[in-house]
Amino acid sequence: MNDKQRTANEPSRITTPWIADAPRPITCLTAYDYTMAALLDRAGIDIILVGDSLASIVQGKATTLPVTMDHMTYHCACVAAGVNRALVVGDMPFLSYQISPHDAVRNAGRLVQEGGVGAVKLEGGAVVADAIQAIVRAEIPVMGHVGLTPQSVHRMGGYRVQGKGISGDKNLRSRTGQQIVDDAIAVEKAGAFCIVVEGVPAELGSEITEALTIPTIGIGAGNGCRGQILVTHDMLGLSTREIPKFVKPFGAVGDAVVQSVQAYISEVHSHQFPGQEHSYTKADSSRRLPYDVI
Ligand code: KIV
Repeated sequence: MNDKQRTANEPSRITTPWIADAPRPITCLTAYDYTMAALLDRAGIDIILVGDSLASIVQGKATTLPVTMDHMTYHCACVAAGVNRALVVGDMPFLSYQISPHDAVRNAGRLVQEGGVGAVKLEGGAVVADAIQAIVRAEIPVMGHVGLTPQSVHRMGGYRVQGKGISGDKNLRSRTGQQIVDDAIAVEKAGAFCIVVEGVPAELGSEITEALTIPTIGIGAGNGCRGQILVTHDMLGLSTREIPKFVKPFGAVGDAVVQSVQAYISEVHSHQFPGQEHSYTKADSSRRLPYDVI
């Protein structure tokens, strides 16, 4: 396929049916605010996930467990406002779907109705199949999430690569590779349109991909998945947290921020900024600012 054909085949809006049958690898990144969402959309990303990773990136928390429906709804609405093409997916926070399918539908509906997302994501395998089915029956597309599921941090005893569990250890700590494959199949059967596979050996990521008809979107799950997702702040080199092995830093944006701020501090101290070119003259009186709306 040449570049012209590729562009011709690209949809002007990414939808869940397009993702389900995506003819090429699916690209996915996280965002929590309008500006980042608009930049990712301009770059041509397929899916923007408003992840509950906002706990660590935005809120400075150690786990995703404190994130609430109010937090997620607010950040989903901020992101949706900046997006024209990508599919926006809202993460369902801890306890928003585990208690009952009824609660799950109500909370997923909130992310769609108030947050403006086109789909929701929730963590877990067979145990959340009822919740997935109920949400899908309410016409809300669901993205699954198996393997390392951060909301299970206490069961797993920390964030650890999954799939090495020993059968018979009653599912504590880590599931076996087969249990994760079974979880993924249960999520597909429940009606999910795609599934995130996180923190498993690359061979297991490929095995899960081969066992499913819906696309797998890997994060720390190797190159055999049908798409990839990363936390944007990690891949941009913008995070202040230590990044795991599966993250490739595609930029050094954090360093650029520090350098730019240091240059600003220095120019303010030396009265170099603002110069004449950044100052109004009398002739500018009543001049409209570029973001004037009235
Ligand atoms: O919360 C999140 O950002 C996620 C992705 C990293 C998969 O769940």
